[in-house]
Amino acid sequence: MAKKNVSVWTSIPFWRRSAAWVTGFAVMLLIWLSFDTLGQISMGTDEDLKAGTTKRVPAPTVINYNIDYKMDKKRGSEVPVIGAKEPFFGKEWSVEEAADLLHLGKLTSQAKNCMNCHTLLGNGAYFAPDLTKSWLDPMWSATGPMQAMTGKPTKEEAMAEFLINPSQYPTHARMMPNLGITAEEAVGLVAFLKHMSSIDTNGFPRNFSKTVDQFKVGGTNAR
Ligand code: HEC
Repeated sequence: MAKKNVSVWTSIPFWRRSAAWVTGFAVMLLIWLSFDTLGQISMGTDEDLKAGTTKRVPAPTVINYNIDYKMDKKRGSEVPVIGAKEPFFGKEWSVEEAADLLHLGKLTSQAKNCMNCHTLLGNGAYFAPDLTKSWLDPMWSATGPMQAMTGKPTKEEAMAEFLINPSQYPTHARMMPNLGITAEEAVGLVAFLKHMSSIDTNGFPRNFSKTVDQFKVGGTNAR
């Protein structure tokens, strides 16, 4: 008797084997991707910074460097560019000091619940602007309005002053309330914001600089 010609597409063992192979492949891929992600998001070291090695999440001592935000044509988004050293609150912070300061900033951001109004790296509420790149917001730069408004000669001092007395500096239609932040906590928070701005977030938040261009002091753009 001639063997019946069964199509492979209707063969149950074929589908069983395929399912096993696809599952096995997906598991291997997931394991590989998990390790790759861990490598990508683990914090860099001070040595990386000194060697000019770009890490997605730089070491806390990145606060000792100038951070710029430049368009990367190939990636189609802006990326943080770590530049030359610059004093932060008038000094260079050691590895331990920078780590402690960042820790204080993180704890303060949790204690004062910045996420209640803002988003940090996309997490939080949408009442106030995303803070991921707030350090790079031109309004804090030497040519922006905030240094003059707060009467402070540097970006970090202007930001700290704003955080201590936000309701004194109405900049947008919506105002930030006074949260009882101490001078020490404000320094920690500014370090936290500066460090966060140095994280390569694949261009998140999208159109950050375009939104900033629309910003006008006393305007109605609450972002
Ligand atoms: C009750 C809501 C609220 C809370 C809580 C809050 N903010 Fe704000 N914040 C605002 C609003 C509204 C603005 C925009 C108004 C302005 O710029 O004057 C703002 C603006 C800012 C800006 C300027 C944004 C920029 O792009 O330059 C910074 C920086 C900032 N907040 C930091 C913080 C930090 C840090 C915390 C936590 C310690 C915090 N905020 C908690 C409402 C809040």
